[in-house]
Amino acid sequence: MVAPGTPDGARSAQAGRAPSGTGVSQPEPADPSAPLLRLRGIGKHFGPVQALTGIDLDIPAGQVTALVGDNGAGKTTLIKCIAGIWAPTDGQMLWNGRPVHLHSPRDATALGIATVYQDLALCDNLDIVQNMMLGHEPLRYGLLDEVTMELTAKQTLADLAVTTVRSVRQLVGSLSGGQRQSVAVAKAVMAEARLVVMDEPTAALGVSQTELVLSLITQLTSRGHGVIVISHNLNDVFDVADRIAVLYLGRLAAVGPVADFDRQSIVDLMTTGASTRTGNGSGSEPDPYRGFSANAEG
Ligand SMILES: Nc1ncnc2c1ncn2[C@@H]1O[C@H](COP(=O)(O)OP(=O)(O)OP(=O)(O)O)[C@@H](O)[C@H]1O
Ligand SMILES: [Mg+2]
Repeated sequence: MVAPGTPDGARSAQAGRAPSGTGVSQPEPADPSAPLLRLRGIGKHFGPVQALTGIDLDIPAGQVTALVGDNGAGKTTLIKCIAGIWAPTDGQMLWNGRPVHLHSPRDATALGIATVYQDLALCDNLDIVQNMMLGHEPLRYGLLDEVTMELTAKQTLADLAVTTVRSVRQLVGSLSGGQRQSVAVAKAVMAEARLVVMDEPTAALGVSQTELVLSLITQLTSRGHGVIVISHNLNDVFDVADRIAVLYLGRLAAVGPVADFDRQSIVDLMTTGASTRTGNGSGSEPDPYRGFSANAEG
């Protein structure tokens, strides 16, 4: 839900949602220069366990932000805050420059935030079309408009250059891991997600399926969607990320454009929270939102 008194995008985005297609109808941002999502001072504790502390992070549209960190660093907790599953115990979230308070995943969905899990959120016993349209099926004369559903699903997959699916009438239970990811992402795109959050999308995938998912992520950003991807795989991170954010023991150890990092600096940051190798000097571009910074907050 949205903070009282803030004429925020949650409701208006929902109201403007088209039943199908990948067009996006979002209200004008409060501040056009603001990133899609801005986190300020986000903290989350579970009883005595302080999972996140003072997270300041900007997520721009049209870019992939890779979220990396060791086991227990707080990655999943952070995206669960962004997905409306956990309410942060401290800090503020701004969507297009407007303060928002998410009380449920439904609130995040209404804003245009979709979280994609590899094995969740798809129904194995339904086909691809039924899964993609679930919850916003078009009707014609009071009946499901199967023709429009199928055409829309096919078009969305084609727009995202997903070509490995043989039939959109295939049951999702029979798809490979990479194909399932593709369907889940296409579903998020159809639901007009502006920000797609992926937790370990390639963890269980083979080489060619990983390629499929990485190219899908690139497609998303070229269409203007913001993407947050959690990955333990530094190959994937360097393949696909525009920006990297490193969490260490619940704090943001560093964030900046990918060119500011190399493998060793990421490993250092993940394992000790600091690195002496601040940048590899390979033509790093200025970050419009925030430069590389060893984070000394909190
Ligand atoms: N529901 C919960 N109750 C209590 N503690 C939790 C809960 N969820 C997470 N934590 C704690 O918060 C910290 C961060 O966990 P989180 O799952 O966010 O880590 P992660 O970076 O996603 O790790 P991994 O790479 O292993 O998935 C851990 O110390 C974890 O034990
Ligand atoms: Mg996790």
